[in-house]
Amino acid sequence: MAGGDRDLTGRRILLGVAGGIAAYKVVEVARRLTRLGASVHVAMTHSASRFVGSLTFETLTRNKVLTDVMELDAASEIVHVELGKRVDLIVIAPATANLIARLAHGLAEDPITVTALASPAPLLIIPAMDHHMWANAATQANVETLRERGAHILLPVRGELASGEVGWGRMQEPEAIVEAVCAQFGPGPLAGRKILVTAGGTREPIDPVRYIGNHSSGKMGLAVAQEAARRGADVTLLYGAISVPLSAGIKAEHTPTAADMAAAVQRIAKDCDALVMAAAVADYRPASIASQKIKKGTDLTLQLTSTTDILSSIAGLPLIKVGFAAETEQLLSAARDKLRRKQLDLIVANDVTAEGSGFGSNTNQVTILGRDGSMEELPLLTKTEVAARILDRVQELFDERS
Ligand code: PMT
Repeated sequence: MAGGDRDLTGRRILLGVAGGIAAYKVVEVARRLTRLGASVHVAMTHSASRFVGSLTFETLTRNKVLTDVMELDAASEIVHVELGKRVDLIVIAPATANLIARLAHGLAEDPITVTALASPAPLLIIPAMDHHMWANAATQANVETLRERGAHILLPVRGELASGEVGWGRMQEPEAIVEAVCAQFGPGPLAGRKILVTAGGTREPIDPVRYIGNHSSGKMGLAVAQEAARRGADVTLLYGAISVPLSAGIKAEHTPTAADMAAAVQRIAKDCDALVMAAAVADYRPASIASQKIKKGTDLTLQLTSTTDILSSIAGLPLIKVGFAAETEQLLSAARDKLRRKQLDLIVANDVTAEGSGFGSNTNQVTILGRDGSMEELPLLTKTEVAARILDRVQELFDERS
């Protein structure tokens, strides 16, 4: 991955900032990683915050900075444990001699080491220190210990140090750090695959100010798009009305109505390897759209007409097709019927009446049904985890076909 090809969309990175003058350069690292699409979470030691304020990182990354090992989140979970579970990579820059020593010995007494100890994510360590400290046998032994355990070390370079002396110990420049981060991720299991994802709800206009819509927030579709991008796919997202921000780095096109979404799917799907239709598409639209706002008067009857069934309209294309079935009753039989009628490879049966499931929530309870008769019933999971399970199945289908 080099130059303009770098894309960290959907990657979750913990950036541990320890107390060294090079911390000011790490502000630029946080900015660049965020611009490449990564979700960057900063953890700082107390001494780091004497060099750079947490507000700087919070403003750039749009994520709260972890400065307190005892911090609890809104669900009363321990933040460093939850963060440690969720990140894909831990980058420590600047890694001071002290921090490297603590990491090597499993001491967990600051927001960085405590999160690193609680996390299975790989470690990328970017040392920065005085040249005598770097050359010291204790530091070299600690670095070796971490390397033997699988940590990657981006070695310091020779240059001017905080003391004014010149020697080995100067932290690598932000560009080199970003390159090293990108290199950690490699191409991903869906590299080379083009995946089209739809999200959100369509809105069918009645007149210039009113529409028929639904409660979709776009969270489920966006989670699929982000997870596919995280696995290296070339993702295009078509979205209707959504209430969550788009991810920088994912190609996205606004398709407000069912007709707009149908036209875009028909145009793009023929060049794609898979389509995941998580959007809540209207089945009906007003037969005609009033050119002026309809005046309040007596009761009004709207005549509705069917929209194009998007999935059915591309049934002849060879790409893998995944639909959702949002149901309030007879979940599995209704989903099986849609799987067959729309000629899908997979359908995600979604009980939208279950607690914590369906429209607007951060979690979802689904059963994935396959054309081959398979049935995978999942517990209540976050939408990101549901997206991962769906893409595991899509990957299996790619493997079977190749
Ligand atoms: O966006 P969130 O708030 O996160 O909520 C997620 C969700 C509940 C919207 C999502 O999980 C979900 O279930 N999406 C499908 C909603 C839906 O339209 O279901 P359906 O059973 O009516 O349609 C079946 C399938 O056909 C869907 O994949 C749908 O996108 C597709 N469809 C529907 C109508 C139409 N005209 N053309 C279609 O292709």
